Amino acid sequence: MCRPDHFAVEYAINPWMHPEAGADRATAIRQWETLRDVYLDLGHRVSLIEPLEGLPDMVFSANGALVVDGRVYGARFAYPQRAAEGPAYLRWFTQNGYERVHEAAFVNEGEGDFLTLDHLVLAGTGFRTDISAHKEAQEFLGRPVVTLQLVDPRFYHLDTALFPLSGHNVAYFPEAFSPGSREVLRTLFPDAVLASEEDAVTFGLNSVSDGVNVVISAEAGGLQLELKRRGFEVVPVDLSELRKAGGGPKCCTLEIRERVAGATAPGP
Ligand code: ARG
Repeated sequence: MCRPDHFAVEYAINPWMHPEAGADRATAIRQWETLRDVYLDLGHRVSLIEPLEGLPDMVFSANGALVVDGRVYGARFAYPQRAAEGPAYLRWFTQNGYERVHEAAFVNEGEGDFLTLDHLVLAGTGFRTDISAHKEAQEFLGRPVVTLQLVDPRFYHLDTALFPLSGHNVAYFPEAFSPGSREVLRTLFPDAVLASEEDAVTFGLNSVSDGVNVVISAEAGGLQLELKRRGFEVVPVDLSELRKAGGGPKCCTLEIRERVAGATAPGP
């Protein structure tokens, strides 16, 4: 995670960002601290990266890389405003002893557009991540990568429209995907949780599940009910200030996966 010490809404690279309205950094920091404490209380380990001045979106660590089986596929950001974050996150991994690190040739925004399940990686494209990065990631990770086409600019990263509930099931907002990708999702996950638009626009799908607990936007009431009905522990968090930059709980969380196959509870 990356503390939002330099958080601000200074530019608009997604429809949620309104620089003229700004955002309150102190509130963002308070909300982020609550999220970090939630992970610690749930027993997950949290590592921190130094926030860099001039990178107001660096708090959204999900975008920093994709880590599967300890292999680090580096991000290459679509917009120049965030470009320096890619090398910063890669440096963190090399400095922390990760040896299998891949500097990506194609534009991709890490776990914003790549979500890992037990036997495959789901990958979004359409707004940020180049489809060529899907192939590159598959080759580097040695895991099947399934392309999903995003079509609604409000859901510009895959992690704003879908999250893995476990290693083998997901929750998603169907309308965020092209007709073909919706069919793919229906085929792969016949038992998926389908979210309403109302829950999707509160960033309810930008959630983090460890297979038991789901850390989810406090406002996504309908989705929370359905998750409880399915037996999940729901842990609501308020990240409304960070949403002014277009982010929620998952965006603030890069899940470092040392090992994936067979794991039922991959922690953040
Ligand atoms: N302002 C950031 C951007 O548009 C928000 C990133 C949100 N991150 C995410 N994983 N969806 O790039």
